[in-house]
Amino acid sequence: MEKIIVEGGRVLQGTVRVNGAKNSAVALLPASILADSTVTIDGLPNISDVETLNMILEDIGAKITKDSNQKLHIDPSAIVSIPLPNGKVKKLRASYYFMGAMLGKFKRAAIGLPGGCYLGPRPIDQHIKGFEALGAKVKNEKGAIYLQAEELTGARIYLDVVSVGATINIMLAAVLANGKTTIENAAKEPEIIDVATLLTNMGAKIKGVGTDIIRIEGVEKLHGCNHTIIPDRIEAGTYTILAAAQGKEVVIDNVIPEHLESLLAKLREMGVSIEQSDEQLLVTTKPSLASVDIKTLVYPGFPTDLQQPFTSLLTKAEGTSIVTDTIYSARLKHIDELRRMNAKIKVEGGSAIITGPSTLEGARVKVSDLRAGAALVIAGLMANGITEITGIEHIERGYENMIEKLVNLGASIRREQMSEAELEQLKSIK
Ligand code: EPU
Repeated sequence: MEKIIVEGGRVLQGTVRVNGAKNSAVALLPASILADSTVTIDGLPNISDVETLNMILEDIGAKITKDSNQKLHIDPSAIVSIPLPNGKVKKLRASYYFMGAMLGKFKRAAIGLPGGCYLGPRPIDQHIKGFEALGAKVKNEKGAIYLQAEELTGARIYLDVVSVGATINIMLAAVLANGKTTIENAAKEPEIIDVATLLTNMGAKIKGVGTDIIRIEGVEKLHGCNHTIIPDRIEAGTYTILAAAQGKEVVIDNVIPEHLESLLAKLREMGVSIEQSDEQLLVTTKPSLASVDIKTLVYPGFPTDLQQPFTSLLTKAEGTSIVTDTIYSARLKHIDELRRMNAKIKVEGGSAIITGPSTLEGARVKVSDLRAGAALVIAGLMANGITEITGIEHIERGYENMIEKLVNLGASIRREQMSEAELEQLKSIK
């Protein structure tokens, strides 16, 4: 097991290139099984969530060949519908996309309940509601979901909660159903458009993605295709926030700036200098930043996945900032760790109230989930002295080569093996 050691306080400068979107990748890979011939996906991020999904694909009979870690050919022609128990499935949230994809392809699936970051309760009732509306019988037994349908028939499905996962999962099941499906109150995240683009290239008939009504006309079969994944707006946002804290002319490359409008507006409100072109952002901090309030919302609102990194930045702002996560009200595990680093943050009525500016001080901190990891790395880079970060496997689930990218920007950051004594201590905390 390794930890990250950061020596904070350095000014960061240079270019950081953003990889393909994690939250697209983790849906595109399960979606590929719906085809009857090879699907090529280019631009996959080299992260452990993608590795886990590749292993699951191989477990069910997909033949995977790689041109590089980014470019994968998935031949699904020999895939079989076998139960996918816990184990690998539990390692990540997005394994639940095999429910929609297997149901669409085989009209049955048996899959362990997904894992992923603990952000408070993460129900999948809207996914189930969608599968049932399409004609599936769904049983939840001993930690697994069993889905079975004689046939799938298009339906009108209204989502009670706007959900990225449910929107994608229902699309995956509906593209091979008989007749028309309408998903109302659908989510509009760019990753949903990316998945619909892949499915359309495979021969699916989908209209209205990116609006809150998606219309799907089922087809009999889907074929292989080539697809290039969109850039990761959350990775881009993470580096933009970092540059807003510690950067002097940091170029964020391979970005779709329109995907980050809510973040960029807030950073500009704080006084951060941001210039944007078609695929790049140029970001420079200012000696004094203004406080702002943020409330996370579904896209195109402020993304919950950037709330934790943004909180680290707000410790530097003059005055009081209020952060409210309306998507995951319990996504606050980074706060205690930031407090260890001298941040002045109170949690009241589900909101974090940050009083700044505080000078962060290096400390020993522990990552609880992926974006908390990004928040603590940013805090470590802002802080005086040394910060030791454990629990870094969470970060590796979603950020490709984060350490290397930061070193290229001039950060003093490295991985180090944990000692036996530290490992024992970590076990006793668990
Ligand atoms: N919800 C329900 N019932 C459902 C589904 C969702 O009540 O059936 C609720 C959730 O509890 C939550 C809200 O609806 O309060 C939104 O959840 P959503 O389904 O949109 O989230 P998700 O699909 O499980 C994806 C991303 C998350 C990201 C959220 C919100 C993937 C694999 N995960 O999760 O990403 O936070 O959308 O944008 O795409 C991350 O990357 O760090 C991450 C956690």
